[in-house]
Amino acid sequence: MGTHKFELLFTQDKIARRIKEIGKQLSQDYADKDPILVGVLKGSIIFLADLIRNISIPIELEFISASSYNGSLEAETNVTMAGGPKGSIKGRHILLIEGIVDSGQTIQAIIDHLKLQEPASIEVVTLLDKPSCRKMDVDIKYKGFDAGENFVIGFGLDAAQKYRNLPFIGKVIK
Ligand code: IMP
Ligand code: MG
Repeated sequence: MGTHKFELLFTQDKIARRIKEIGKQLSQDYADKDPILVGVLKGSIIFLADLIRNISIPIELEFISASSYNGSLEAETNVTMAGGPKGSIKGRHILLIEGIVDSGQTIQAIIDHLKLQEPASIEVVTLLDKPSCRKMDVDIKYKGFDAGENFVIGFGLDAAQKYRNLPFIGKVIK
């Protein structure tokens, strides 16, 4: 139990180079916007820690926790949320930082929840994206890599809560 076979998908170097590029892009795009970065726990933490050290403009940092589960009696996925920005985000520019977007249900639920507070804008920044697995049409403005349809682990992402501490991204194999 708790051991999965995996292969290397993205090396530490490749991830670091991509995060540097995204940080630079965000620093340009949000130069005069005083953004609030909202990290989605727990999968975003490693990405977030590296990303913010590659951002050269003033930012604020908040966290939100979200978990998705399939209700046994319902077809739809439920998303439960906890935490979230402490102060008001009304009129503020929000960057939602995610580890991975798969069906899109989790990030869409968070967007819907935060929009109730009328921020000036909300954009998604995800390290990994699985566009071919999407069930909801979510607009992802910033992404690190496409993960195909692989189940990926490492760099904050888990399989059964393990492997978040791997310094690279692997894909689980049979
Ligand atoms: P969603 O389907 O976009 O709502 O994604 C739900 C959550 O499933 C994500 O926030 C991740 O926590 C998790 N997840 C989806 N795909 C993967 C994967 O390949 N590796 C690890 N976690 C994943
Ligand atoms: Mg998980």
